[in-house]
Amino acid sequence: MVDAQLGHALAALAPTHLALAAAIAGASPALNWITYDSYPPDQIGAAFRNAHAFASLIGTQAPYFAADFDFGLFLVAPHVLYRDHCHAAPELYAPLTGPHGWRFGVDRPLVLKPAHDPVWNDPFRPHLTKVGPTPFLAFFGWTRDVNEPASVLPATDWPALEALIL
Ligand SMILES: [Fe+2]
Repeated sequence: MVDAQLGHALAALAPTHLALAAAIAGASPALNWITYDSYPPDQIGAAFRNAHAFASLIGTQAPYFAADFDFGLFLVAPHVLYRDHCHAAPELYAPLTGPHGWRFGVDRPLVLKPAHDPVWNDPFRPHLTKVGPTPFLAFFGWTRDVNEPASVLPATDWPALEALIL
């Protein structure tokens, strides 16, 4: 998943941010890309479980150590829905690709955001991301409470959002 989707994402990033795209491409083979496995599989859904990966850059298991802090890269394949969820950790998303859909409350309508439009989530703020035709590549940051697991928030419209093509 990472090799193919990261290549597509970096191809979209390179025209405006060539040095950053080259740096990520160069670093990626040395990074520990993993999936987030704290969600119950039936709640988060198979599509997301099999189509995302993240790699910490700064954190307890990262190339640069920090305690109770996590900063890195997050990648999700095109058209995938990352269902409504929340967590104790305050969170920054700095998307490097776009567009993608967001909402910040269960069953609300999607808001479309372009690349390079950051999102800040206060603790336990609900959020959902619907990936567009380009793989979603972002820097993420969790500024504390990084060992508190995230929770899925049930919604009624996931089937429609999973079928949606942005
Ligand atoms: Fe989050």
